Amino acid sequence: MTILQRNGIPGPKPNLITGSLFDHSRTPNVLKYDEYFAKYGPIVGYYIGRKANVLINDVELAKRIQIKDFSNFSDRQTLGIKYGLHPNPKYYLHLISAQGAQWKELRTLLNPTFSAVKLKAMTPIMDSCIDILLDKVEKRAASGGEFDLYEAFQLLTTDVIAKCALGIDTDVQNNPDDEFFRAAKRLFDTHPSRFRLMFTCFPELDRVLYPLRRGLQMIEEWRDRSVSQTLARLINAAIRLRSASSVLGSAGKKKKNDLLQLMLDAKSSEEEIANTSAATLTIDENSDSEEKDGEEGKPTRAEKSLRNGGSTANGHNNSHSKQKALSKDIVVATAIVFYEAGYETTSTTLGFLAHILVTHQEIQEKIREEVVQMYEKEGVFDYNTVNRLPYMNQVISETLRYYPPVTTFVTRTTKEDYHYKDIVIPANSTVRIPINQLHHREDLWPEHMKFDPERFRDRSVIDPVAYQPFGTGIGMRFAQLEIKLTIARLLHKYRLLPGPSTEKELTVEYKPITQTPKNGVWVRAVPV
Ligand code: HEM
Repeated sequence: MTILQRNGIPGPKPNLITGSLFDHSRTPNVLKYDEYFAKYGPIVGYYIGRKANVLINDVELAKRIQIKDFSNFSDRQTLGIKYGLHPNPKYYLHLISAQGAQWKELRTLLNPTFSAVKLKAMTPIMDSCIDILLDKVEKRAASGGEFDLYEAFQLLTTDVIAKCALGIDTDVQNNPDDEFFRAAKRLFDTHPSRFRLMFTCFPELDRVLYPLRRGLQMIEEWRDRSVSQTLARLINAAIRLRSASSVLGSAGKKKKNDLLQLMLDAKSSEEEIANTSAATLTIDENSDSEEKDGEEGKPTRAEKSLRNGGSTANGHNNSHSKQKALSKDIVVATAIVFYEAGYETTSTTLGFLAHILVTHQEIQEKIREEVVQMYEKEGVFDYNTVNRLPYMNQVISETLRYYPPVTTFVTRTTKEDYHYKDIVIPANSTVRIPINQLHHREDLWPEHMKFDPERFRDRSVIDPVAYQPFGTGIGMRFAQLEIKLTIARLLHKYRLLPGPSTEKELTVEYKPITQTPKNGVWVRAVPV
């Protein structure tokens, strides 16, 4: 019996050295989880190497982990090996690798970067990228043939995130052979090699093995085969260019309104960081609507939490408290993370959504009516107007429920033994929240395989733990703005119809942490 089984958590019999590591590298995680839940019930324990993993498809327990008892689960999973699978100390520290106080500090510094005000200022960058997409759709529409809209969305979101996070003008939408695009695609499509994964089975030997792992990484970097290194080179060049041409704000030049610039400028007082509770940076149980949060003039959830924890709440004046900023290496590392996190997730959502629109013409028509009415009234699609399209928002939410793009990324480490009903999750275990399975629980989502936007008509009845396509991720509002602007502008001009290659039932490809449309999303575009 394994330690997990002795603690009441059933699961597969592990290999003594590798646990279930190779089982998981053979079968996509999301399918493996289905198999486990069918066999062992909603709480399953397995081993990766000798590291205990507990998979949780139990909303009550997930709620305790992500909200009520967050302090015992505030850190993301660790692999137990220095600087991760692809060790590079220079760019190791960022939102995904940081733990404890460091994560809280980074998140407090970075949250305002995604505020409503900042996103509004970024809208013209997104719009200029959508202009290029619409030009391409126009050409396709003129030829009358079908085309893969998912591929066009992949290029669009690469363009948006390259311009916003890396601060670089790319021509990626017209040149799919672009360096950025190839780097980002490599990242999501490549499974970590078994050889590299094997190192995670021997954390005790990492002192000896680390030089070998670092050496291998340096060879990759030298051969320019490292995705992060490619991106780091491009971002560093962008920062240098800004300094050289004074776009950093001096000499009367206008600063860029992109994520890169906001990160370079980000500052928080030490007091503000100390007074922010990490738990307030996580899922907000009482939030009734993603859309309402951050509307014009209203503070975002993160801003509220910062304010409550900051000087106004405790009465201290922190104007003299020391200011913290992000180092250049952290800015570069975080820009890479934004790039990686923002490209595939958002294009995949758009792809799934396009599939729904083309196979459910009545839904498409209803969104178009709403979009046309809004345009007639306001004459513009911008941050304010696209956030006031309730039916379109319902359809986006249901798409993210039905096809959550990120299936296996919400993980936490258990600080101390955790007792729940008749089980104990041992300290230092990794707990995993399987988003796809939560979104398809039959008891929570009646007729869970039916695509029904009406589920989201009243957001107050949606449980934020049972529905969490973004987990506690920071990019929700950025992604939603990009998706809403794209769909509103596209449907305002075009009707999307099926073509000969359109799949009635979409074939989904399961990747290490995401799921995507395997054969693309084929449509014909007809001007309206
Ligand atoms: C539809 C689009 C997106 C989806 C479905 C998505 C989903 C997720 C999920 C599930 C997580 C894990 C959260 C957790 O551990 O609780 C995450 C984390 C993260 N996402 Fe996203 N994301 C999307 C777009 C973006 C964008 C556009 C950005 C950046 C511009 C971004 C940046 C991040 C970052 C930095 C994290 C780590 C946050 C932290 O640990 O504090 N995401 N995302």
